[in-house]
This record gives sequence, structure tokens and C-alpha cells, in this order.
Amino acid sequence: MADLEDVQTVDLMSELLRRLKCSQKPDKRLIFIGPPGSGKGTQSPIVKDEFCLCHLSTGDMLRAAVASKTPLGLKAKEAMDKGALVTDELVVGIIDEAMNKPRCQKGFILDGFPRTVAQAEKLDEMLKKRGTGIDKVLNFAIDDSVLEERITGRWIHPSSGRSYHTKFAPPKTPGVDDITGEPLIQRKDDNAEVLRSRLAAFHSQTEPVIDYYAKKAVLTNIKAEKAPQEVTSEVQKALS
Ligand code: AP5
Ligand code: MG
Repeated sequence: MADLEDVQTVDLMSELLRRLKCSQKPDKRLIFIGPPGSGKGTQSPIVKDEFCLCHLSTGDMLRAAVASKTPLGLKAKEAMDKGALVTDELVVGIIDEAMNKPRCQKGFILDGFPRTVAQAEKLDEMLKKRGTGIDKVLNFAIDDSVLEERITGRWIHPSSGRSYHTKFAPPKTPGVDDITGEPLIQRKDDNAEVLRSRLAAFHSQTEPVIDYYAKKAVLTNIKAEKAPQEVTSEVQKALS
């Protein structure tokens, strides 16, 4: 555990204020679903801060595992590089573990999970054991034709998962994260060829998950083609 005596007073106070504000927020358990480039990773940090949730992106977690060459990363790398899904067992395990973290106490945003009906069923089991369930699923609906420009212009800050875009959401300084000043990188799977495989995986394996939640009456469609701030307003409306 970090030694609190070494933490700056200003940091300690702002964390206390954040926790106080968060203690008054209702719990929320959310899923953001949509094709590659639809804006899940762009909207998640905004919603996470507003409702004091944790942001669990299986893609971000898998990329971190690949970068640090953990056994999980070694197993996931091949499928990710070619735009295919990794096995259900791999992602179910990391989500089950991540949900126990204290920062998920007020709930979570699942970004990029579940992506198959089998994952959705496992998630139901996991939540049932915890005596909870999913409150809302936001479907980031968008036409495939818009996605190539979004994906090929994207730059990310790996440790926070923040997304930028050379045209639609440029950082203040090119190639540098606005908050930390650290370098931005491009994802290995962010090219037109791998995007085609990722989209094929979305249509065949993930679209049935949208139907799965529509039947449970927890689904809200978001018009994800709009400008980023307009999408944020739609998301906020859906969650209020
Ligand atoms: P993952 O990391 O989840 O990738 P993805 O699903 O392909 O989604 P993206 O991250 O590409 O899209 P996004 O919706 O987050 O877009 P963003 O907001 O950044 O998964 C990667 C891989 O990991 C998978 O292929 C698979 O191999 C594996 N994997 C992960 N989860 C798995 C699971 N559950 N099961 C099995 N395998 C799994 O936006 C994109 C760009 O557009 C950005 O540059 C952004 O600035 C810009 N932008 C965003 N919104 C707008 C807007 N409204 N207008 C204009 N530009 C915008
Ligand atoms: Mg993402």
C-alpha cells in the first residue's frame, strides 16, 4: 500500500472530495457496444468521471498484456494482430478479476465486452453471483463506411486508453497526450486491411449480442455518427 504521508496534501484533498461526491452517485452497471471506431473508448472516460465508475476495456487490458509479454498477452497477440476475437475464456477471466477492484465499487462501463453471446451469458452468471445485473446497454450504431477514416487517423495514449484523431480530435500538441505529456502511439490493428476482419467479426459474432440485450429490454441506440460532443449529449440523456 502507498504511504499516505508521502502523498501531497492537494492530491489527498482532491481525492477525498472526489470520494465524497461519488458517495452520492447511484450505482450503474453499463455496457458500451459497437463496431471498431464507433466511439466507445472516446465516450467511456467522460461517463466514467461523471458517474464515478470504472472503465473496463478488454481491448486496452489485452494490449497492455501484449506489451508486457505476460502469458495472457502471448496467448492473445496472434488473434488481435489479425483482427479476430481472442477466446471467450481469456476475456471472461480478466473481466471477472477486474470487477473486484475498489474503483469499480459504484459500478462499471464494459467497453468491448461482451462480444459474443457466450461472453454475455458468462457475464450474466458472474453478476448473478454478485447479486447484481446490467442496468443499461448503449449500442453505438454507425454505418461501416465512416469507420475507416476514424480508425486510420486514430492515435492513443496506451496507459490511460485516451483516443485522439488527427482530424476529428487532435491533441493540443501533435503526438503527445494532453494530460500527461507522454507520447501517443498508433495501434497495430488500426489499418484498412485489419479493420475489414474486425468489422467481419463484429457483424458475425457481436451483433447477436445486441439482440440478446434488446430482448432483455435494457438496450438504447446511440447515433454514433454525430460529432463527439453531440454523441456525449445523447449518451448523457440515455443515462439520466
Ligand atoms: P478493442 O480495443 O475493443 O477494439 P474495437 O472493438 O475494434 O474498438 P475500437 O477501440 O477500435 O473502437 P472505439 O469504439 O473504442 O473507438 P474510439 O472511441 O477510440 O479490441 C481490440 C482487439 O482485442 C479485438 O480485435 C480482439 O482481438 C480483442 N478483444 C477485445 N475485447 C474482446 C472480447 N471481449 N472478446 C474477444 N476479443 C476481444 O474512436 C475511434 C477514433 O474515432 C478515434 O480516433 C476518435 O478520436 C474518433 N472519434 C470518436 N468519436 C468520434 C465522433 N463522434 N466523430 C468523429 N470522430 C470520432
Ligand atoms: Mg476502444
